[in-house]
Amino acid sequence: MKRIRTDRKGTVSTLITGIGELTTNTPDGPLHDAAVVLEGEHFAWIGPANSAPPADLRVDIGGRAALPGWVDSHTHLVFAGDRTAEFEARMAGQPYRAGGIATTVAATRSASDEQLSANLRRHVIEAYRQGTTCLETKTGYGLSVADEVRSARIAAAIADEVTYLGAHLVPPGADAETYVDLVCGDMLDAVAPHVRWADVFCETGAFDEEQSDRVLRAAAARGLGLRVHGNQLGTGPGVQLAVRRDAASVDHCTYLTDADIEALASSNTVATVLPACDLSTRQPLAPARALLDAGATVALATNANPGSSYTTSMAYCVATAVLQMGLSVAEAVYAGTAGGAKALRRSDVGVIEVGARADLQVLDAPSATHLAYRPGVPLTLAVWRLGQPIPTAQRPGATE
Ligand code: NIG
Repeated sequence: MKRIRTDRKGTVSTLITGIGELTTNTPDGPLHDAAVVLEGEHFAWIGPANSAPPADLRVDIGGRAALPGWVDSHTHLVFAGDRTAEFEARMAGQPYRAGGIATTVAATRSASDEQLSANLRRHVIEAYRQGTTCLETKTGYGLSVADEVRSARIAAAIADEVTYLGAHLVPPGADAETYVDLVCGDMLDAVAPHVRWADVFCETGAFDEEQSDRVLRAAAARGLGLRVHGNQLGTGPGVQLAVRRDAASVDHCTYLTDADIEALASSNTVATVLPACDLSTRQPLAPARALLDAGATVALATNANPGSSYTTSMAYCVATAVLQMGLSVAEAVYAGTAGGAKALRRSDVGVIEVGARADLQVLDAPSATHLAYRPGVPLTLAVWRLGQPIPTAQRPGATE
């Protein structure tokens, strides 16, 4: 990859040329022999390499593939502590249980603000280096007013999108109904200024349908967008509730009935599948193929968290979706970019078009197909987020 600085002073625009395959997620893509111009934080020009305009910086990627940065619409990265022992027990045959969340709650409550911020920042940088350029994260390991507010505040300083998940688990020792009142009342009031979204873990062992609906209605009344964790450990009411409340996304979708799939297909609610979590908890993989065949919008996300899915690799999720869930490469890449954007109700990310956020990743490969053809190989060669290069492990000794 050749990077040549032109004579003009001040970096205001970057021409990326020599793009062998450009996935745009627009009706005119993919493009071949293409170029893009990043100006400030946005794409300013997209077209054939041989008619590209000049820019302050010029980077030739030598025929490699470029695509939108990943939009990871589901993570839980405001946490402290480690759950290796729980993972080992699971691999030895123990089932995943929602109650493991309490282990991380205890560690998170004992951590300082600085430790939580540093841990979040470390994981976000890890994600950026692998091509993620827009990342959602959640509260949910605080579960007291003070701990949820500080989680939200810390997340808002670092992540693109922040979700309030006070309804992650009833904290040990608390009465469920009293806790739901708190989640819908004082806790919501305190957290709302820091977040765009509210979520609830609607599952046996967490919150039932009535409690979940109470949380969603309170959050909607406070002006927050809605998300739901549903149908992770068994069939249940999560999907139907999410659709009924016009949630932007229902996440997990591991156990779906035909009626759930139909409901999602005729709704505005995105089905977000989390294959790394399904594998790490030894569950079946979510029926993403059936969802797409029915006409539902599917997003792929990592669910990065220390309990059920400790990975920030969207490429791993994409490869799994292709190799084990029956998606084509194009469908999986779309689900990990534009699908994630739809799950966050955003049109400025997950797409390469003039005016969109200048978020782009370059693979050390001639096509996006290599994401599944060469699974596990770190193919991310370069990443731009908001028009700025992210240092990646693989960045070649570029001349500037
Ligand atoms: O999405 N399902 C609930 N929450 C997380 C798990 C969190 C944990 O186990 O710490 C999830 O899988």
